[in-house]
Amino acid sequence: MDLSGFTYVRLSPEKEILSFDCGDTDLNEFIVVDAQNYLQELLAVTYLFENDNDVVAFFSVLNDKILYEQVGRNNLWNKIRKNIPHKKHFKSYPAVKLGRLAVNKPYQKQHLGTSILDYIKVFFIDRNKTGCRFITVDAYRESLAFYEKNGFKYMTEDDKNSDTRLMYYDLASLKGLLKI
Ligand SMILES: CC(C)(COP(=O)(O)OP(=O)(O)OC[C@H]1O[C@@H](n2cnc3c(N)ncnc32)[C@H](O)[C@@H]1OP(=O)(O)O)[C@@H](O)C(=O)NCCC(=O)NCCS
Repeated sequence: MDLSGFTYVRLSPEKEILSFDCGDTDLNEFIVVDAQNYLQELLAVTYLFENDNDVVAFFSVLNDKILYEQVGRNNLWNKIRKNIPHKKHFKSYPAVKLGRLAVNKPYQKQHLGTSILDYIKVFFIDRNKTGCRFITVDAYRESLAFYEKNGFKYMTEDDKNSDTRLMYYDLASLKGLLKI
């Protein structure tokens, strides 16, 4: 399903939130209760796709970075450095965190979530005001397969038994810049 049939809105303080249920209580509560506070506090910006009656899907994003301390013990850091060859080595790389992503139940499993990830990938390459190399997400265990299918990789094996797992997507893969 493509996104063009829906109204796209950046959450604003006055925005009324239409009905939404993705099957997850925390995410349902986030869009009604927390998203406005995060916006006011400059902690995250939320974007919605709507039709006349419902929020069809939403995502919220905030700045992030991948730190050597997060991944230095495994070979991800070496992989990143091989793909970003600079004389001066960075101690961290800029990223955007996908803080929340949820699709209203009647619209799930119709590739809407995938279309939103595709949109975000382009959004942070073409129209971004600052450098941003990676998308990161702290993915629910139930949605790991969804992110894997969309090209996300695991940042570490340390969280493999946790309820959520840190994953990343290298935006350079869309620009054909990856060597490995
Ligand atoms: C997870 C979520 C965002 C995925 O959106 P979606 O529009 O339903 O997903 P898509 O239709 O784009 O799925 C793409 C692929 O991932 C698979 N997939 C999606 N959700 C899955 C799940 N929970 N478990 C296993 N596979 C899943 C789909 O079957 C599809 O596979 P295919 O390409 O082989 O057909 C949505 O189901 C949702 O909002 N779930 C509840 C909230 C949630 O878990 N959010 C994620 C927080 S990290």
